[in-house]
Amino acid sequence: MIFIKNKKKKKNISFLVSGRGSNFLAVAKQIEKGNINAQIKTVISDKENAPVLKKSENIGIESVFINPKLFSSREAHEREILDILFSNKTDLVVAAGYMRLLTPVFIEPFKNRIINIHPSLLPAFPGKNAQAQAIAKGVKIAGCTCHFIDEGTDTGPIIMQAAIQVHQNDTVESLSQKILIEEHKILAKSIKLFCNDRLSVQNKKVFIK
Ligand code: GRF
Repeated sequence: MIFIKNKKKKKNISFLVSGRGSNFLAVAKQIEKGNINAQIKTVISDKENAPVLKKSENIGIESVFINPKLFSSREAHEREILDILFSNKTDLVVAAGYMRLLTPVFIEPFKNRIINIHPSLLPAFPGKNAQAQAIAKGVKIAGCTCHFIDEGTDTGPIIMQAAIQVHQNDTVESLSQKILIEEHKILAKSIKLFCNDRLSVQNKKVFIK
């Protein structure tokens, strides 16, 4: 008798990244090791000189700069990105340090299929410079959050969080470094759960099957 292993189809992932791309690389490594059932289709940046573009090119991933200045509106820029994502059959979009807010034009077709990584324990400190906000407030616990993107700023359903202690002598830089280590872990874990069809969203809450 022949047993055929019922292996699930790999998910297609595309990344939106504005800068360095350490989260992208961390996930790419996990995929390379076979720990996440996915393939990366493309990396798209809104910044021509984003360091991520070299990194992704170096590992053979299609890397594209789409200049927002060439479009008459945010929506028109997003439609250009959507064209790529539809044509390469992207299942999941990962915003990993993407510094633009997405409009409903982008979010609607990818509802609960866009994951963001944010360097704070949401709902505390949404928006820019989250680590600086945490230091300014003197919080004793900080961390990071992986969530699905909705129309608000860092308000979408939370998939996973990781917490770390803030020490009295921590600076924005030292805190950011410690948080980043946790970001890499929870982003990869969240993507893995998505790729194994283990995430569902009900009443704006994420449930893990
Ligand atoms: C991370 O801190 C992420 O949480 C935030 O932007 C930073 C991106 O870092 N949204 P990298 O480009 O992944 O290194």
